[in-house]
Parts: sequence; structure tokens; C-alpha cells
Amino acid sequence: MKPPSEEAAAPAPASAALTPPASVPRHVAIIMDGNGRWARGRGQERLFGHEHGASSVRACIEGCAEAGVEFLTLYAFSQENWSRPKLEVAGLMVLLEKFLRDNTPELKEKNVRLQAIGRLTDLPASCQRELNHSIEATAGCTGLTLILALSYSGRTEVIDGIKSLLREIEQGHIDKAMINPEMFSKHLYTRYYPDPDLLIRTSGEFRLSNFLLWQVSYAEFYVTKKLWPDFGKADLVEALHEYAQRQRRYGGVGE
Ligand code: IPE
Ligand code: IPE
Ligand code: MG
Repeated sequence: MKPPSEEAAAPAPASAALTPPASVPRHVAIIMDGNGRWARGRGQERLFGHEHGASSVRACIEGCAEAGVEFLTLYAFSQENWSRPKLEVAGLMVLLEKFLRDNTPELKEKNVRLQAIGRLTDLPASCQRELNHSIEATAGCTGLTLILALSYSGRTEVIDGIKSLLREIEQGHIDKAMINPEMFSKHLYTRYYPDPDLLIRTSGEFRLSNFLLWQVSYAEFYVTKKLWPDFGKADLVEALHEYAQRQRRYGGVGE
């Protein structure tokens, strides 16, 4: 007979690996990184990795919806990503459009409401049209809210928030003495959503890359070496389990 420690270490059956924990984060945010390296590792162009990243996106939407996560924010394209080679940027925009076109009926069917944050007017007109169409088509959905961060920059968002506050002051709607963190949050792109509880980054990089700088102040970080196209539902569920073990103290002493 095996000693108990060895038995405990035996791999769990596949179905158990996909069972989410009892307590799930309300809001999961993901920095989907490593598409380029995934493709290069296969001797392919970077866009090949972006293409394959779409199936990880679908897996995470499904996993979050099944687990009862309320909000999922995906960092799909940063403002800094415009500096990439023209061909890669154009390819990413085509993929975004195709993703929206192909997946909107299923999002609707799964009761997923699509939203977007970032400088959306920077996107090509055809992308904006497809995005608006998907947002409108899923507006009545009451399950998971999927938020795509597109042409997004955390610093730009904070600056836009300050400008919006200044306008309100100029118009006499608020007094500057009333400004506090809660009020400022209401001037950010994310004003309708709670702050992320869990922030996942794939490809092993320990950095924020200008993502949700204000909102992640008390988020739990989970970094995995897996490259984004290899990240599946079981990996998401593993992150949810790790999150369930964390003790969040918010500067206090815990229980
Ligand atoms: C993430 O993968 C996708 C986007 C930033 C659009 P990358 O394209 O950054 O892949 P790596 O990090 O170069 O491997
Ligand atoms: C962050 O990934 C942006 C997205 C995932 C959209 P990057 O690949 O752009 O970040 P850096 O350059 O490694 O910091
Ligand atoms: Mg990257």
C-alpha cells in the first residue's frame, strides 16, 4: 500500500481539475501575454500566436461564466501596442473584428454581456462598428460581463479621469473638496465595475504593463509561465483555487 503522502499527491481526475472552488472572485482581470513567443517557438510568425490566443479567450469566458465570476476584464491591446510593426497591428485588428463577428451569437446564447474600455476611437472604423454591434447585441445579457481593454493605457485612463473631474468642477457640479478615491473611481473607464479581485498574467512576466493601475491596488496577483495560447480552462480554475487560498488583509491584521 502507498503511504498517505503519496496518495495525496496523486493527480486529481480531469473533472476535479475543472471544478471551481466554493468562493470565487467577483472580478478577474487577465494580462494575456506570450502569443508571440508561442508562435516563434513553433517557427511561425507572431500573428499565428495571436490567432491561437482566441481559443484561450473562449476557454476563459466559459470558465469564468461556469464558476460564477461576475466580471472578466481581458487586456487585449494596449495603447503602447500601436508601436508594434504595422503588419502585426493590422493583423490584430482583423482578428479582433473576426473574434467579435464569430463569437457574438455564442456570447448572447451564454448570457455574456460585452463591454469595452480604452481609447476606443483609436480603433479602425470597421472594428468600432463590430464592437458597437456586439455591445448592443449583448446589452440585455445578465450573466458574466466581459470587458475588453482595447487601446488601453492605465496612465491615460487616470489623466482622462482627472480631465473629467476638472470639467465637473468648472461646470460647478462638484467642489474640489469633495474629491476622494471613491469619487475619482467614478471618473474612470471602469466606473461601472468593481475593482479586480484576481489579476492573472501569463508568460511569466512580473509586471503590470500599464494595466488598470488604479484598480488593482488590492488585487491578488497570479503569474503563470504558461504562454497565453496554452492557457486553458483548467489553468483558469487552478488560478481560482489559488485565489481561494489567499488571505486578503487590506492593510489590516486579518482574522
Ligand atoms: C500578447 O502577446 C498579445 C498582445 C500584446 C496583443 P504578445 O504579442 O505580447 O506576445 P509576446 O509577449 O511577444 O510573446
Ligand atoms: C501587455 O503585454 C499588453 C497586453 C497583453 C495587451 P505586452 O507584451 O504589450 O507587455 P510588455 O511589453 O511585455 O510589457
Ligand atoms: Mg508580450
